[in-house]
Amino acid sequence: MRLTILGGGGFRVPLVYRALMQDQGEGRVTHVTLHDLDAARVAAIGRVLAEQGQGVPGAPRVEVTADLDEAITGADFVFSAIRVGGLEGRAVDERVALGEGVLGQETVGAGGIAYGLRTLPVADHIARRVAALAPDAWVINFTNPAGTVTEAMSRHLGDRVIGICDSPVGLGRRVAHALGVDPAAVRLDYAGLNHLGWLRAVRVGGRDLLPGLLADDEAVTSFEEGKLFGGEWLRTIGAIPNEYLHYYYFTREAVEAARAAGRTRGALLIDQQRRFYGETGGSAPALETGGSALALWESTRLERETTYMAENREAAGAGERASSDLESGGYDRVALALMRAIALDERTTLILNVRNRGAIGALDDDAVVEVPCFVDANGARPLAVDPLPGHAQGLVTSVKAAERAVIEAAATGSRRAALRAFAVHPLVDSVALAARLLERYEHELPQLGYLRGGA
Ligand code: G6P
Ligand code: MN
Repeated sequence: MRLTILGGGGFRVPLVYRALMQDQGEGRVTHVTLHDLDAARVAAIGRVLAEQGQGVPGAPRVEVTADLDEAITGADFVFSAIRVGGLEGRAVDERVALGEGVLGQETVGAGGIAYGLRTLPVADHIARRVAALAPDAWVINFTNPAGTVTEAMSRHLGDRVIGICDSPVGLGRRVAHALGVDPAAVRLDYAGLNHLGWLRAVRVGGRDLLPGLLADDEAVTSFEEGKLFGGEWLRTIGAIPNEYLHYYYFTREAVEAARAAGRTRGALLIDQQRRFYGETGGSAPALETGGSALALWESTRLERETTYMAENREAAGAGERASSDLESGGYDRVALALMRAIALDERTTLILNVRNRGAIGALDDDAVVEVPCFVDANGARPLAVDPLPGHAQGLVTSVKAAERAVIEAAATGSRRAALRAFAVHPLVDSVALAARLLERYEHELPQLGYLRGGA
């Protein structure tokens, strides 16, 4: 099987490659094509993969190309993991919003909207090329903001694009651990949008163990989400929210902590990654002197995981991340499980971003949602889930309205739609502020040049 990774020079690619190598089964991926516009970045990642593959029988062959059409042609699966505007763009997304006193985050609120506006024209182009050159291929989208990007791509690819995120899996793993049960044995009733979902039931053998967990304060605050939100709030809503809901439930504290940190996550990662990729896109000093690319990658990765959501944890007094959460994002394993289920008709259930088709009553059928799906050779189909609590329905509906405005702006170039995206988002509290945000982003992000005023 042939897998193409768009954004092949991305930092998390070795996680995917490691997961591929662990798969020794029939019908596994034998060829990986890395596509990236930055030759130096993809070369650095290529060195890590080469080290990972040393002495591993059947390690997938790796090829590199900067030509999109060439990368897509002949692929069975296309992973899309691009970052339009790089980490520099992310730092702008975060800094501009925080400068205006609202949340500046990669995927949430004003920052997520700016990121979506920058990314969608490129994602749209990719979707069109896949539809033209590899109509039977499956696209697995990691590119953030994943829900918005997946929905935009689904307009060209229908159900052949599936979005993934590691955060629901991580939540499921932590909850299973707190309950002392095997993560593979639990049925998670989780629903919402990407980075905006709630776990409402944890079923084992037909019994819901969540009420018992919520009632046990020590157990429920023993892991990340419980520490972030506090047991009392979880009992109040009768569910466990995705960790990204911290930005909604504790907006003031999250904004305050991010501002106090002095530099954004994107800015921190620019410095951190420079040590791996090097100053000017050339290889890092440690690699120049013949050091191990894999060792340098691994230590950088660990540092990145350790500092993940640091400000939120600080604001909540949650302390350090648990060492079991530092292992890996886990999204690589979801991707592999998804790919195998489709390619080999190995039926399974995974939490994925797919078109709604009635799973969440408050949204129309084409809205991309994040819910448990039944997966087999026919792709992924959402399973029936319990209704969302009332306030969650409200949030999901208004955030989806903002996402849709982003999609409309990118598809038509309408600046008014872009303004609407900022203005209707629940984390942007004034139309005047929305107008200012849009102006500042346009000023700092050349990729938004396609937006036309008066339209
Ligand atoms: C989680 C989310 C991803 C997000 C990442 C950010 O894994 O699910 O969607 O991209 O965190 O991590 P970073 O290290 O880039 O801040
Ligand atoms: Mn995610």
